[in-house]
Amino acid sequence: MNSIKYGLSLFISTLVIFQSCNAPDKTQENKKVNALQTRVDSLIKRVDSLEKSALPGIGPLMLILQTHHTKLGLALNKGNWQLADFELEEVEEDFIRLSNLYPVYPGFASPTEQYVKTYIAPSIEQLEEFCDKKDTEKMRRSYKLLTAGCNSCHRETKHPFNVIIEPVQSAFPDQKFENE
Ligand code: HEC
Repeated sequence: MNSIKYGLSLFISTLVIFQSCNAPDKTQENKKVNALQTRVDSLIKRVDSLEKSALPGIGPLMLILQTHHTKLGLALNKGNWQLADFELEEVEEDFIRLSNLYPVYPGFASPTEQYVKTYIAPSIEQLEEFCDKKDTEKMRRSYKLLTAGCNSCHRETKHPFNVIIEPVQSAFPDQKFENE
């Protein structure tokens, strides 16, 4: 019996010693974890705000699109098929980027992809086909359709005053649009 009591008291005193040794460590540990959590929270906030400010808005994306639309038109004016094909791909990529970055833009009635599908995709498909066939006449008609598509979306998204037209003259003095 005594030996049981002795064993039990030894066990309890070991526990107490263990607890008392451990207690300050735990508080320290908790403090460290809390401090780390606060740091992680503030870093997440910072990354979120940096991400937001690093993303181009629709306006800047449209300016890039405008450049590619212009260059596509200028390449077509000069019958430069290779350049036209390249610029056409750029236009396509711009629309993919627009839909990925702004799948549902505040103020738009439909998802961005829907506008692109309705107003842009048909002319892009035609342009691809006629560019492969080097058909200038049809290519010109499809380019008109693409430009009209830009303006239809501008009307739909309450920006009817952004009117896109076909370029006549180059605004890029450092680039050649004629074929070699
Ligand atoms: C999904 C609908 C949509 C389509 C398709 C679209 N646009 Fe836009 N565009 C907009 C909206 C919305 C704005 C206004 C952006 C803003 O609020 O800054 C705009 C603005 C613009 C601007 C004015 C940008 C500025 O800051 O001066 C240009 C240029 C432009 N678009 C070119 C084009 C061209 C070129 C095409 C076709 C190849 C096109 N857009 C197709 C929705 C569209």
